[in-house]
Amino acid sequence: MSKVTVVGAGNVGATCANVLAHKDVVKEVVLLDIQGDLARGKALDSWQQAPIDYYSTALTGTEDYALTADSDIVVITAGVPRKPGMSRDDLISTNAKIVNIVTESIMKHSKNPIIIVVSNPLDVMTYAAYKASGLDKTRVFGMAGILDTARYRAFLATALNVSPKDIQAVLMGGHGDTMVPLPRYTTVAGIPVTEMIDMSDLDAIVERTKKGGGELVKLMGTSAWYAPGAAAAQMVETIVKDENRIFPCCALLEGEYGLKDIFLGVPVKLGKNGIEQVLELQLNSDEKTLLNTSAEHVRSVMEVFEGMDI
Ligand code: NAI
Ligand code: 2OP
Repeated sequence: MSKVTVVGAGNVGATCANVLAHKDVVKEVVLLDIQGDLARGKALDSWQQAPIDYYSTALTGTEDYALTADSDIVVITAGVPRKPGMSRDDLISTNAKIVNIVTESIMKHSKNPIIIVVSNPLDVMTYAAYKASGLDKTRVFGMAGILDTARYRAFLATALNVSPKDIQAVLMGGHGDTMVPLPRYTTVAGIPVTEMIDMSDLDAIVERTKKGGGELVKLMGTSAWYAPGAAAAQMVETIVKDENRIFPCCALLEGEYGLKDIFLGVPVKLGKNGIEQVLELQLNSDEKTLLNTSAEHVRSVMEVFEGMDI
């Protein structure tokens, strides 16, 4: 049974730890935050839910990296979330330093963990953790595509009045307004979505998905946490169960889709070694153009990061 550390005991980190505990698939979850009492409190609260919801996952809260020793998987959610009017990219100056120090601290206590990055701006923070960790590219990747695809699937389920369980979809690109939902790869219980919905309604859903994070920031004054925390927990579950499930994740591309030296959302197979395979879809020219535009945007944020000289 695995040991998982979640760094950042805020909205997303605490939700991830709690959802993961409910799944009962790992032995221990360590919740670490610079605010040690917050981490201790949320871990204790989650543990006190165990007799009610019937799980055995042990939960420890701390600010001490020694307690993360020999983690198999680390989820990094530390950092600031955006406020209304901010883009994810506005967070880079604060979060790049945090992700860097968190990754270095983790690597002092765990030899070869798998690291799942959640902090924003996601694609570039995943690159930051990859660089700071020195780990293989298959062991450092980011969570965004599962969340963005879930938003797209949820909007479709509402529009079609069907269960979200029956919507299968894939979405690619950066975690931002340039993300690329792919209607051509979207089905409702195996039926192409284009046979079930007007193109204008589908286009509106694609546009709403791209701005899905911002919609929630406007409503709540901070960014979302239930779906993001659950998405990160789903990635952990897939890895510990070695399921080889296919999810869109932020992965290092080295020639796939004609792109190099960039972390970007693509469909991957997730298993016990992390990314077991990057899947290459046969995109048409419109889809390729959208993906390249998204990659260009991520590269512009990467340049800001490189200029920070961390
Ligand atoms: P939050 O403010 O609720 O929690 C962040 C936590 O990080 C705080 O408890 C804070 O004390 C902690 N922290 C800050 N610096 C730290 C350090 N050096 N070491 C350890 N802990 C530290 O924020 P929330 O809502 O949980 O969001 C966290 C991050 O996740 C944000 O950057 C947000 O933009 C991002 N996010 C990414 C999503 C994605 O799809 N990739 C979805 C939702 C949020
Ligand atoms: C989200 O998409 C802000 O990245 C965060 O909800």
